[in-house]
Formats: sequence, structure tokens, C-alpha cells
Amino acid sequence: MKVTVVGAGAVGATCADNIARKELAQELVLLDIKEGFAEGKAQDMMQTASLLGFDTKISGSTNDYSKTANSDVVVITSGLPRKPGMTREELIGTNAGIVKGVCENVLKFSPNAIIIVISNPMDTMTYLAMQSTGLPKNRIIGMGGTLDSARFKYQLSTALDCSPSDLNAIVIGGHGDTTMIPLIKHATWNSAPVTKYLSAAQQDKIVADTMVGGATLTKLLGTSAWYAPGAAGAALVESILRDEKKLFTCCVSLNGEYGQSDICLGVPVVIGKNGWEKIVEIDLSADEQAAFNKSADAVRSMNDVLKTL
Ligand code: LAC
Repeated sequence: MKVTVVGAGAVGATCADNIARKELAQELVLLDIKEGFAEGKAQDMMQTASLLGFDTKISGSTNDYSKTANSDVVVITSGLPRKPGMTREELIGTNAGIVKGVCENVLKFSPNAIIIVISNPMDTMTYLAMQSTGLPKNRIIGMGGTLDSARFKYQLSTALDCSPSDLNAIVIGGHGDTTMIPLIKHATWNSAPVTKYLSAAQQDKIVADTMVGGATLTKLLGTSAWYAPGAAGAALVESILRDEKKLFTCCVSLNGEYGQSDICLGVPVVIGKNGWEKIVEIDLSADEQAAFNKSADAVRSMNDVLKTL
């Protein structure tokens, strides 16, 4: 198996590092536009191989897409990251041009690749990838909800003083501070509803802290986070390459599911060798459905900006 990660910045490099450590692919290509940058990161990572005991062959490329040929999965992290105080949405103009160009180049050499989009604003970049490539919808996956759900579990585990791995909790809707919807009423600690153990105030705080999870880190770090975004990308790569059919929340093209069409938005999907294989519909309350529709409206108006570029 071969994987390409486009963008050797912090998120791309962390994603690649996770893929290598787990030996998800025999071959891993890191590509960046900055001269020598991906080659340097690849060499640095390869020098951990004997220490960490992995056999994945990592190579770097400065914008030479022929090196990425015949990739099974391509993870796109390119584009500007958020700066403190900046929304993901403010990146749209610059990142749209970058993501469109990357998709074209990738498909020239890997026409059968499954594409994972991490670049922000993620929902609109996923929609743009869908529109500009015309690929079958199952092969375009936006990563946002996978990350937001992991952050939701972190917040829940802190409040409950429990293992994040014992939690089932998802965030649907957009990958924006005001568009994501942490479904706390559906969250369980193994099989027990978490709401049984949390006061209403605690629940509200968990939801609010989850929604600004990315912004909180941007403020602390001075730039976008990378460990969890990188790990979330790698978890999707793993479920695809090992055909695990794990359930993740991802941004995918909706065709009537959850009452929405002509949009890419975060919903629970089965991830396997064909990309996203199935949307799982859960019963939303009237409030949750209203929040989902509101989120769709916000993402749709962002998608409309694409037409003006
Ligand atoms: C974040 C960026 C990757 O949420 O969107 O950290």
C-alpha cells in the first residue's frame, strides 16, 4: 500500500509519523512546495525507523507529484493554518486555490486514490474537492468530525475522570466553532448515558469547550494544533487500508441524508477500503436536527463564496 501526505507542515508530518509508526503502508510520500522541506522531514522520520521499529519507507518530494504515483490514499493538509483570533473560514480564498490544484495534481498520478481532506475551512474544502474532481463521492472524506469527536471525548473524560477510550461520543455538523454539534445526549460511557453523571452546567461547559477546542489550542500555540488533527487523519487512513469498517464522523457529500443535499457535512460514516462506505442515520431530536440545519446553512453560505473566487 502507498500513502501520500500533501503538506509537510505540523499536521501533515504528524499524520505521516503516525502512519509510519503503525506501518499502515509500505510506502509513504511526503510532499511540500517548500524546497527541501518534505525531504528533510522524511529523512528525519526515517532516522527514527530503527529506534521505533517500523519498516515503512518514507520519502520526501518538493512538489514533484510523479513521486506520489499510484497512491491508494492521499491526505491533503496543504494551505495556511489558522493564526490566533482567526476563524477557519477566513482561510477560504487562499486555501481554495491550493486545494483545487493539489487535487488535480494528485489525480494525474493516482487516479484511483481515496482523498482525505484536512485543509480548512474543511467542509468547504471537501465540497470543493468533490466539485472540482468529479470523483465518486465515496472517495472524498473530510476529516473534521473525527477530530472534533476526539476532542469531545477528551472533554468528557476529564469531567468524568474516565478513560477516553471508554467513551462513545460524536460531533456532527460543520467543523467550525459555531457549526459543530457535540451530541451529548447520545454520548455514552460504555453503555451508560454520560448525562446521568453530569450536571446540566457541566454538560453545557463540555459542549462549549469542545466547540472551541481548535481555537483554544490556536491561542495557546500561536498556530493550529497538530497532534490530534494528524492522528485523526491517520486513524482514517488505517480504517481504509485495513478495511476496518470503523464508524467515524466525517464530512461527506449528502444526498438527502439528515435532510440535506448538495453539501458536504459531518455525519457518522463507515470507513473501509472503498472510502466512506455508508452513512449511518441516527435519530436526532427536533433541537439537534434544527442545529444541523443551521450548521448546513452556515456551511452552504461559505460554499457560495467559492463561486466568487
Ligand atoms: C483544528 C484545525 C486542524 O481544529 O481545524 O485544530
